[in-house]
Amino acid sequence: MIDRIENMERRALEEIDQATDTAALEEVRIRYMGRSGQLTALLRGMGDMAPEDRPRTGQRVNLANRTVTDALATRQRALQDAAAVVERLDITLPGRRPSIGRKHPLTLIREEVVAIFGEMGFTVADGPEIERDYYNFEALNIPANHPARDTHDTFYMGGDRVLRTHTSPVQIRVMELYPPPVRVIAPGRTYRHENPDATHAFAFHQCEGLYVAQGVSMAHLKGDLTYFARRLFGKAVKVRFRPDFFPFTEPSVDYSFSCVVCNEKGCGICKGTGWLEISGAGMVDPAVFGFVGYDSEKYTGYAFGMGLDRLAMFKYGIESIHMFLENDLRFLSQG
Ligand code: DAH
Repeated sequence: MIDRIENMERRALEEIDQATDTAALEEVRIRYMGRSGQLTALLRGMGDMAPEDRPRTGQRVNLANRTVTDALATRQRALQDAAAVVERLDITLPGRRPSIGRKHPLTLIREEVVAIFGEMGFTVADGPEIERDYYNFEALNIPANHPARDTHDTFYMGGDRVLRTHTSPVQIRVMELYPPPVRVIAPGRTYRHENPDATHAFAFHQCEGLYVAQGVSMAHLKGDLTYFARRLFGKAVKVRFRPDFFPFTEPSVDYSFSCVVCNEKGCGICKGTGWLEISGAGMVDPAVFGFVGYDSEKYTGYAFGMGLDRLAMFKYGIESIHMFLENDLRFLSQG
């Protein structure tokens, strides 16, 4: 008897589960709990049962009755809710707007750099990221086996192709194409075989600057870079030039901006030094003019590099260069 009750309960629960609308559910209810339903018949039959079996069997039938009643009610509610969702679908509502992306921090900084130098008369030049050894090194006065190549370890693409290690090759390409005077900047991606840390990555971004004309001097370089720094970071920023060496400039300097985050006191962004090294610069070496057929007796020029990732890190307080290429939306959607 107990087995019969349990089987019936199991079947009833299965059928309740399989009912996909309220009409089907009602049929199940009638089949088991209706006036001539199977469970109803069992409940009614209790009176005819031998008195010694009655308590146990009775208890089980009552339990089955409750279980099936509860399951019917629960399923009923679920089916009604689902129907309500369908009814609530208002097809006259306007569609969901696609979310609009934001500019990447490197795009923001590049646009600002281009705008400032644009006002100063610089146009934008471009060059390939897969560059020829000649433009990346040779014509910049860095012959094969020159020790300066050590700091530019890169990805060799086979033949004489390399992933450019700096934007300086664009200088050569511009001077090959145009006679002086030229005044260009060249922002773009660059590559080096680096050990990654907070400020070094295998792919990074630079902006090259080149101004060649008659009478261009170191004073122009200092003045223009200082003006640029003030436009980008405000009047309080100082620019420091220190002697350095680059094969394609003579004399050469490295230049830094004073840390506007901590006012030169030393902080995490400037690594406690109060200064941010931006890159190198100098007067274009006459040997470079030789490669592009410029008359170095008549023309002089200045050139500079600029680490765009660094500028963006400085300006927006970003602590790791790797965030630029990780595509984490939590980072990118702050702008
Ligand atoms: N190309 C150099 C680098 O990536 C930076 C640089 C130094 C660029 C001096 C220049 C320059 O134009 O004149 O390390």
